Parts: sequence; structure tokens; C-alpha cells
Amino acid sequence: MYNSKITGLGFYVPDNVITNDDLSKMMDTNDEWIQERTGIKERHWIPEGSDDTSATMGAKAAKIAIERAGLSKDDIDFIVFATLSPDYYFPGCGVQIQDMLELPTIGAIDIRNQCSGFVYALSTADQFIKTGMYKNILVIGSEYHSNGLDKTTRGRGVGVLFGDGAGACVLSRTEDNTKGILSTHLHSQGKYADKLVVHSPSIKNWVPKIIASNGEDISYFPYMDGTFVFKHAVVRFSEAIMEGLTANNLTVNDLDMFIPHQANLRISQFVQRKFKLRDDQIYNNIMQYGNTTAASIIIALTEAWEKGKIKDNDLIVLAAFGSGFTWGSVVIRW
Ligand code: ACO
Repeated sequence: MYNSKITGLGFYVPDNVITNDDLSKMMDTNDEWIQERTGIKERHWIPEGSDDTSATMGAKAAKIAIERAGLSKDDIDFIVFATLSPDYYFPGCGVQIQDMLELPTIGAIDIRNQCSGFVYALSTADQFIKTGMYKNILVIGSEYHSNGLDKTTRGRGVGVLFGDGAGACVLSRTEDNTKGILSTHLHSQGKYADKLVVHSPSIKNWVPKIIASNGEDISYFPYMDGTFVFKHAVVRFSEAIMEGLTANNLTVNDLDMFIPHQANLRISQFVQRKFKLRDDQIYNNIMQYGNTTAASIIIALTEAWEKGKIKDNDLIVLAAFGSGFTWGSVVIRW
């Protein structure tokens, strides 16, 4: 059986930076509240009038990843695209990438697992490589949140958390079984779907019904029971790390870099304290980007790699938790 390893990384965020002070002009919030509860200082939002979308940002990140992998577009065999904010209700963004990057008419799938989207996407791509079906897979996480948030005081509990951006990697076949993705573990618990959800538009509640409600139906804005989600997140992140390490006969002492999904700096710090990780064993960038959901892990991984924080042979654990609920881990020997 083959193994898979990341051979190219890239990310893209819009230039437009929105600080907490900027948000306080749109809604009743303030920098102190946001930083104290979440660690977020600023996020990037696609500005009005821009042509950027989840697909275009994903394409920009993917182009960088393909170049850094030293490959050409004709070498890519398959596309896995993770997002909760697709350009269209259907088709998914994966097919747009095939067109935008002028790739051959290869297969493309979309992954709908929210904050765990990138972990699910990487795991999916890993299976296709391990079986020998594909050699080089483009794995993308991208989110255009800002156009779907309630930017009034009514939506402040969610609106301040999210940012726009995209990250991508090329996952390639290797015959070295000591390197690359060592394991992936995926979980879901659908009974909590309503705790973090966008209800509409859906086949149950389609657009004409929303319009007819004259603004009273706000089910198209994200809803989150923040405290409930937070309590589950700290437990599931911890479980995800341990499950990945234990499956590989490793312990926290073997860990060189933990890259958590960037949901809230307080969640990451809780996990860091629990496992007594040094500052150089964890990478957080939610302070600058907010929660970019399916893009957050791959943006963080790319940024950490660009800063030279990831070295050959390092043991890296990626872990995510989010809406669904879904959670999971990826263990990588770099
Ligand atoms: N500015 C100022 N005040 C605010 C804001 C804001 N932006 N938002 C909420 N408040 C107020 C509330 O109205 C409330 O006021 P009240 O006490 O008068 O009613 C008070 O602040 C406390 O609100 P809580 O929601 O209880 O605040 P909490 O301490 O729980 O923090 C937070 C909220 C940051 C959202 C936290 O619950 C959290 O991070 N949850 C987990 C997020 C997460 O892990 N998400 C998973 C991934 S996301 C995905 O999958 C899409």
C-alpha cells in the first residue's frame, strides 16, 4: 500500500482587514470583550465589490500549492474541496476549481463538515492515495463567511468570530511508509446538529418563504449555542489528539507541532495547558484571521511552514471540532 504526504502548501486571504474596533461601529461590541473571550484581534473579510468567493480564493491558494509541489496542473488527479460557504447551493466548489485552474476533466468532490472540513478532506484524499487510485490530489479548504453573517448586535455572538480565507495543499503518493500521513480519525454526533447550524435556505425552508417573512425569518444566519459548543470542543479536541497519538504508539512527548482548528484561542490554550505543551509545540493564528472554519487548519499549517516552524521528520497533529458535531485528527510525520 502507498502512503501520502503533503508536497505543496499555499494560502490566500483577502487584503481587507477588519479590526475589533471596526466591528464596534457595526454592532454593540468592543475589542476587550472579543479579545478576552476569543483571542481574536482582526480578521480578513472580502470587501464589497470584490470578485472573490470561496471558489476563487481556493483557486488562488491551490495555484501556490501546486507550484510549491513542483507540479504542473496536468499532474493533479483529483480535487477535494471543503467549505460550508460554497458559491452555489449546487454544484460544489470543487468543479469550479477544475475550471478556474484549467485542470484536466478530473473528478472533484465537496466535503461538508464545517470546522472539521479540512481534516475530513485530508482523510478522504489520503484514502484515494493509499489505495493507489490517485497520485496527486488537490485538497482545499475555503470560506467566504463575511457575506453570510448577521453584522448587527443581534448577531454579535457569532458575527465577531469568523473570517474569510482559503488554504490548499497537494497530497502526493510516496512509497516511504515512515513519512507522511500516519493516521486519520473521524467522528460525528448528529444529535447536536442544532447547536451550531445554518437552517436556511434548505429544501424545508426555501428562499421565497424567507423573503415572504419580511425579515422576521433569520434562519439563514448562523446560530450557535456558544457555551454548549465550547464545553464539547475542549473534550473532543483532547480526545482527538489522544486517539491519533495512541493509534501510532506515540505520546504527547513525541509531538513537535499541534495545529488545532482555530475556533477560539481559549480552547487552544485549554488544550495546551491540559497536555502541558510548550509554546513552540502549538501554532495559533486566530488572532489575525478569526475562525476560517474549513480553511483554518490549512492556513495555520501553511503559515507555520512558511515561518520555518515545521521541519523534516517533525511529528505534527492536526485536530478539529465543529458543527455537526464533527471532530477528528490527522497525524503526520513531515
Ligand atoms: N460583544 C459583546 N458582548 C457580547 C458579544 C460580543 N460580540 N457576544 C455576546 N455578548 C454578550 C452576550 O449577549 C452575553 O450577555 P448577557 O450575559 O448580558 O446575556 C455575554 O456577552 C456572554 O455571552 P456568552 O455567549 O455566554 O459568551 P461566552 O463566554 O460563552 O463566549 C463564545 C462566547 C466566544 C462564542 C464562546 O462560547 C465560544 O467560543 N464557543 C465555542 C466556539 C466553537 O468552538 N465553535 C466551533 C467551531 S465553529 C464551526 O464549526 C462553524
